[in-house]
Amino acid sequence: MINLEVKGLNETLKEELAVVRTENTDVLERAQKGEEKYADSLGWLDTEEWADDAALKVIEDLAARIRREAQAFVLIGVGGSNNAARSVIEAIQLAGTPEIIYAGNTLSPNALNKMLKQLEGKDFWIDCIAKNFETLEPGSSFRILRKALKERYGDQANEHVICTGTRGSSLDQLCQDNGYIFIDFPLNIGGRFTAMSNVGLLPMAVAGIDVREVVRGARDAQTALRTQSPDENTAYEYACLRNLYYRHGWKLEMLSSFEPQFRHFYYWWTQLFAESEGKDGKGIFPVTGEFTEQLHSIGQYIQDGENMIFETFLDVKEQQDSLVIENDGLKDHFDYLDGKDFFDINKAAFHATVTAHSTKFPCNVFTIGRLDAYHFGQLFWFFQFACYLSCGIMGVNPFDQPGVEAYKVRMFKELGKE
Ligand code: PA5
Repeated sequence: MINLEVKGLNETLKEELAVVRTENTDVLERAQKGEEKYADSLGWLDTEEWADDAALKVIEDLAARIRREAQAFVLIGVGGSNNAARSVIEAIQLAGTPEIIYAGNTLSPNALNKMLKQLEGKDFWIDCIAKNFETLEPGSSFRILRKALKERYGDQANEHVICTGTRGSSLDQLCQDNGYIFIDFPLNIGGRFTAMSNVGLLPMAVAGIDVREVVRGARDAQTALRTQSPDENTAYEYACLRNLYYRHGWKLEMLSSFEPQFRHFYYWWTQLFAESEGKDGKGIFPVTGEFTEQLHSIGQYIQDGENMIFETFLDVKEQQDSLVIENDGLKDHFDYLDGKDFFDINKAAFHATVTAHSTKFPCNVFTIGRLDAYHFGQLFWFFQFACYLSCGIMGVNPFDQPGVEAYKVRMFKELGKE
């Protein structure tokens, strides 16, 4: 299970934490059961609902076919329709599987032209992932990719198209009219909670990731966190800590790690907390730190700037890679590194950073066993549940995102949408 250690909590904060934990046990109890008022958004709470054996078999068979036929696979999707799959793929994609190319997440002609260029001369399939198929980025990318498919495959173009959409949506209709493969986007899950469904799992499977392991990890997290008492429940502890820090004026949470393989997981985590919690004039602003690189930029502010950030570190216990530095006989004044493994050097930087930062503000340190499919599954379910709890304590609805409409209304008006 994911382990949590907290550094830099003084006696006053410890006492206040005990109060927050006692006062919010009802939030945990309600979330463990799943609240009726959120019934239309809780399809992720039981992993079995959208990622049972039958669903996984369909995903695996379709992915195997794509891996046989395609050199590239275009994931068209934005936000929750992209971030979970991309987190895992960019971290642990298997060699020899189709190149995964991302579209539907930008309106930049430069980026889109580059994406099309990447496809030149390659056999490819596309998967348009969209909950209600009104979002501009996936809709517009789908058009240009249908054209690219037509140019490459002529009458057979439609055989290379999958759509992950909701039943009865205009995307469903488009599939029926054109013979595209249609798979379900869960009706009862909002985008950012869909990692354990066709949305997240099909692209992962195409990239050769063992999706049964991802789901096993999520299911293990679910089994533990939906039954554990407030005293032993790490997701609850984290949710209480976040709210405690927030009340003390630490209004930004920085998710930091020393492993760049987490780069796209940061995107997923940022969306999860920003869209779920940032509303009604409340919420912790999520930011991320890719260390050690960003210690040389934002590191100064964190240690010495305004005291408004708390930090949550993500660490991996097991050593999965090794690279030893040898002495090449030159006088470069780095002799203290002779014979040392980068794994240990990176860990030294990590320990030093946690120690230094926690002299100023509290630091949560999460440790997972390995960086693999199973633990990604655990991380997804863990943070989704923790986010649900944190929003409950803060008193906001985790499952809507009314704030994103304001710019959309203006943008659609400018573009002449009816
Ligand atoms: O979490 C959410 O619901 C949103 O962020 C969506 O994932 C995002 O806006 C994309 O929506 P759609 O899948 O409808 O294109």
